[in-house]
Amino acid sequence: QSELYLAGLGGQAPEFTTNVAALDESARLSMDGGAFGYVAGGAGNEATVRANRAAFDQWRIVPRMLRDATNRDLSTTVLGTTMPAPVMLAPVGVQSIIHPDGELATARAAAELGVPMVLSTASSHTIEEVAEASGEGPRWFQLYWPNDPEVCVSILERAAAAGFTTLVVTLDTWTLAWRPRDLDRSYLPFIRGIGTAIPFSDPVFRAGLAQSPEEDPTAAVLKWVPMFTGTDKSWSQLPFLREHWDGPIVLKGIQHVDDARLAVEAGMDGVIVSNHGGRQVDGAVASLDVLPEIVAAVGQDLAVLFDSGVRTGADVVKALALGAEAVLIGRSFAYGLSHGGQSGVRHVLRSLLADTDLTMALSAQRSVAELSPDLLRRNG
Ligand code: FNR
Repeated sequence: QSELYLAGLGGQAPEFTTNVAALDESARLSMDGGAFGYVAGGAGNEATVRANRAAFDQWRIVPRMLRDATNRDLSTTVLGTTMPAPVMLAPVGVQSIIHPDGELATARAAAELGVPMVLSTASSHTIEEVAEASGEGPRWFQLYWPNDPEVCVSILERAAAAGFTTLVVTLDTWTLAWRPRDLDRSYLPFIRGIGTAIPFSDPVFRAGLAQSPEEDPTAAVLKWVPMFTGTDKSWSQLPFLREHWDGPIVLKGIQHVDDARLAVEAGMDGVIVSNHGGRQVDGAVASLDVLPEIVAAVGQDLAVLFDSGVRTGADVVKALALGAEAVLIGRSFAYGLSHGGQSGVRHVLRSLLADTDLTMALSAQRSVAELSPDLLRRNG
């Protein structure tokens, strides 16, 4: 941030806005219309997309004064992964529809800053390529849980071998929701973004195809989609993942406090309180509104992370004060990616981290551990 101020003194404005919440405007102008609709859009009439933002507005920070907060430490460790601030990159699939470098650009920017990245199963680049781009950067792997156990084990083994430490299992997307922006344009992100590079490159998946995905991508996608979606999963199947994954396992898409309790019973290590950024159930509860009750119920037993609607430093501080151990951002960094790839993601992360740090400084909060609900007041 001081770099930006100093550059400003020299009359040099940043290339893109430092208001991360406003980056969607320039992304809309520069991105292909279908791709922008896919990223920005949500399910149905997008009531839950709006609710996620409105929920943050329901809380106000009450800053404290005359408590020396000159020396601040925003770093934190979640499930053994240390990060410079309680911010991670959420799994976002098919990133090559946003920028040709896709997940490779994201991995490089995240690694530069030491921010953990969660790689999606629907990545446009392979597990191994992203791992290489990530270098020493912290990385978690997100699983769309395939119905075929052999494909599942193959993908898990590849992720572990490539240095992904924690498994994030997404539970809320066993089928894609009713998303009018994509339906109206017949926009098929998986075909456009070669968004199946991970299964496409998987030897076990490939062995089950009549022709290679390069020869017949449509057939490969048609095999992939039903294999990675489906209704037959239940809590009783989680031991299968435990058996095939040595590191921590986190369930993503938890919205009901009873499901958080079931995650504890199932011996999971963490949950991500998330409604997929309002992309799955239109009319679903705002993610932030259920965070406090889930933290109260299971916060002592497992790591509670949060996403859906985070745009600014104040949002990060509010979610942390309500008990999240860290937050994940989705669209914010995706819009950054559309602004020049790696440098755009770097810009978003640096802006958000500086904004978070300043919000803490000016509220006299010195560390993540100090943040508590006392810092907040609910409107109305
Ligand atoms: C997503 N999200 C997502 N989640 C997941 O588990 N696997 C995935 O492949 C994707 N893909 C994806 C693509 C795009 C374009 C978006 C915007 C989102 C959901 C994501 O991880 C996260 O839950 C939300 O993006 C959080 O909400 P915000 O930060 O976008 O408001």
